[in-house]
Amino acid sequence: MDKNLVTLASSLLICIFHLYRVDAVFNYLNVTCLPEYGNYTEGSIYQQNLDSLLLNLSSHRSTRAYHNSTAGDVPNKVYGLYQCRGDVTQEVCSECIQDATQKIVQGCPLVAEAGAWYDECMLRYANHSIFSTFEKLPGGYTWSKRNVSDYHKLAPVLASTLRSVINGAAPISSRGHFATKANNWTLFNYVYCLAQCTPDLTEFDCRDCLTRARSIMVNDFNTSIRVAIFYASCQLRYDTTRKFYREIIATPPAPSPSNTTVPGNDVLINDKRKIVP
Ligand SMILES: *[C@@H]1O[C@H](CO)[C@@H](O)[C@H](O)[C@H]1NC(C)=O
Ligand SMILES: *[C@@H]1O[C@H](CO)[C@@H](O)[C@H](O)[C@H]1NC(C)=O
Ligand SMILES: *[C@@H]1O[C@H](CO)[C@@H](O)[C@H](O)[C@H]1NC(C)=O
Ligand SMILES: *[C@@H]1O[C@H](CO)[C@@H](O)[C@H](O)[C@H]1NC(C)=O
Ligand SMILES: *[C@@H]1O[C@H](CO)[C@@H](O)[C@H](O)[C@H]1NC(C)=O
Ligand SMILES: *[C@@H]1O[C@H](CO)[C@@H](O)[C@H](O)[C@H]1NC(C)=O
Ligand SMILES: *[C@@H]1O[C@H](CO)[C@@H](O)[C@H](O)[C@H]1NC(C)=O
Ligand SMILES: *[C@@H]1O[C@H](CO)[C@@H](O)[C@H](O)[C@H]1NC(C)=O
Ligand SMILES: *[C@@H]1O[C@H](CO)[C@@H](O)[C@H](O)[C@H]1NC(C)=O
Repeated sequence: MDKNLVTLASSLLICIFHLYRVDAVFNYLNVTCLPEYGNYTEGSIYQQNLDSLLLNLSSHRSTRAYHNSTAGDVPNKVYGLYQCRGDVTQEVCSECIQDATQKIVQGCPLVAEAGAWYDECMLRYANHSIFSTFEKLPGGYTWSKRNVSDYHKLAPVLASTLRSVINGAAPISSRGHFATKANNWTLFNYVYCLAQCTPDLTEFDCRDCLTRARSIMVNDFNTSIRVAIFYASCQLRYDTTRKFYREIIATPPAPSPSNTTVPGNDVLINDKRKIVP
């Protein structure tokens, strides 16, 4: 076959591959390692347990949006869970978790407790139980350095939209603890909010987690065009530039979302602060 034809054919294949893949995109943010809570050694029982835990979690990724599991026995018992964002497809969820099981061990080698963060999913493990308890760590924030110019207009609308999204996510529903909400803060500008907790949390703990996230959000990043707070047990985010989530339940017609992310030099820092109960 002609060499150009081969090149063309493979380009086409790559194109088709990309077209097919378009649906399953996910965006890696960071991993957070907590070495201060313990390390394990190469070839240790803890490492073997961690490997089988990650296999176990991964084996559920194509059917479940949330899963928790353990491997081994105390003192080498490993506890792990993953969660996908309430609006992502199972296909995206699955690919996101597959990637997370790899990035988390590459990013936090020999560390007993860690978390991996994506826009679409999160995965974490520890050498202590992490189920049914509200925890902030491991976690992190992303925000844009770009500011909203008329923040005084956004502030009251953001406050009420966050309140509403927290109230929506706190009670457990068929979708777990998940809610989205959009409101306009000028005639034409909208703010899009999303809140989610892991489904093992009570309504009280979910609300507590989201309320703490909100307080960081409005106090530390109050004029940013978008902020996302990722805690181990919950996430809270807003964006004034685009609708970053998929609408799932029928709602009144929203404005057509813009397709592109406004560049804003987003930064992500890991939160190393301990939980302040
Ligand atoms: C986790 O590992 C650290 C360091 O080895 C240890 O101090 C801690 O007691 C372990 N926690 C549990 C619950 O085993
Ligand atoms: C784990 O290792 C890191 C660096 O390698 C160290 O800073 C940390 O203190 C260790 N953790 C424990 C619990 O020994
Ligand atoms: C995953 O772990 C759970 C216990 O945490 C166990 O019941 C289940 O059989 C495991 N599944 C696989 C596929 O290993
Ligand atoms: C955004 O506002 C913060 C706090 O007021 C300020 O420190 C920062 O420089 C501003 N960013 C830009 C890009 O103007
Ligand atoms: C939101 O849009 C409506 C019209 O659709 C307008 O009446 C209202 O004033 C807007 N809200 C704000 C805060 O500008
Ligand atoms: C997963 O979490 C639930 C609480 O939401 C708990 O009852 C269950 O035991 C956990 N699973 C494992 C394998 O520990
Ligand atoms: C934004 O946060 C800064 C620093 O925490 C604070 O000084 C300022 O009053 C806040 N502005 C608004 C509008 O809340
Ligand atoms: C968004 O994308 C659609 C098709 O993908 C296009 O028709 C539309 O013009 C785009 N809108 C903006 C604001 O770029
Ligand atoms: C991840 O976090 C580390 C330190 O906490 C930081 O140096 C790094 O730039 C972050 N990576 C991304 C992609 O934000």
